[in-house]
Amino acid sequence: MYTEKLRRSLLYVPGTNPKNMIAAQFYGADCIILDLEDSVSINQKDSARNLVFNFLRKERITDTEFIVRVNEINSENGYEDLRAMVLAQPDIIRFPKIERKEDVEKADSILTELEKEYRLEEGTTKIIAGIENFIGVNNAIEIAKASKRTIAISIGGEDYTTSIGAERTREGTELFYGRNMVLMAARLAGIQVFDTVFTNFRDDEGLRADTENIKNLGFDGKYLIHPNQVEIVNSVFTPNEKQIEKAIGILEIIEKAEKDEKGVIKYENEMIDAPIVTRAMKTLQRAMAAGIIKEDINFG
Ligand code: COA
Ligand code: MG
Repeated sequence: MYTEKLRRSLLYVPGTNPKNMIAAQFYGADCIILDLEDSVSINQKDSARNLVFNFLRKERITDTEFIVRVNEINSENGYEDLRAMVLAQPDIIRFPKIERKEDVEKADSILTELEKEYRLEEGTTKIIAGIENFIGVNNAIEIAKASKRTIAISIGGEDYTTSIGAERTREGTELFYGRNMVLMAARLAGIQVFDTVFTNFRDDEGLRADTENIKNLGFDGKYLIHPNQVEIVNSVFTPNEKQIEKAIGILEIIEKAEKDEKGVIKYENEMIDAPIVTRAMKTLQRAMAAGIIKEDINFG
């Protein structure tokens, strides 16, 4: 069974826009991120917080997973956001600009305090730690491991590339190192990892290439800014018919070979060894989680 929650597409909506907060639930995104941070101007912070609070309490129509991006942990708005959001209970709280493990530890201890105050079970509130500059990338491993609440980390491409003095390109080669550092840290901590937004929301081809690239690197999902991006990203992260057929074929051959006690095993023109079998299983698990194949196929 697929043990991890499917989080291919995480769509941002500014916390100032009630119409889009409702609409966002119907584009097929796996998660919706209600934003209180960078898409909200300083004089709208209080009203956005109230709006998101009320929305979470009353207007969640679908069972889509809801994440709130709060303001920086070391700011007054950040603290006010947490006071409201622990009570409103989104599924996850996403912290921006995380640089070191102390930032996560601080978030963790404030959440613990608030859960006590509101009589919630300790540890209910989950965290995504957003890494956005070279300091955070350099400390990615300690950040990823800093709290049991952390279910994922992510990389913010715009801020990270600015912080290292890189130019941003459509191909994103300047992000290669940061992406891999954050990915390795997530794997070491046994949590998920999400990739930065693709800012040109009219460039479908660019988005597809970018998503294929990060999917091949090993990412679990990607942040999005526009509804048109959802289908592209979901489709890249969902195994297609050919991939499913191949995965089933590999597992069938393995089963048979085990019975026959065969040595080297091949599928079409490929030698099949343990990691390939693991990948085939993962492909089927992803397809099941995405609802493409039924759960009663039972391999492994
Ligand atoms: N969630 C839900 N609905 C969205 C949306 C989003 N993120 N982005 C756009 N829409 C809606 C628009 O309101 C519009 O609806 P309408 O047809 O009912 O008017 C429709 O989708 C088409 O939008 P479009 O005209 O193509 O784009 P836009 O100019 O209205 O919006 C942005 C462009 C970038 C302002 C908008 O996509 C957005 O706010 N994205 C999120 C930004 C964000 O949260 N950034 C922080 C994280 S980096
Ligand atoms: Mg930012």
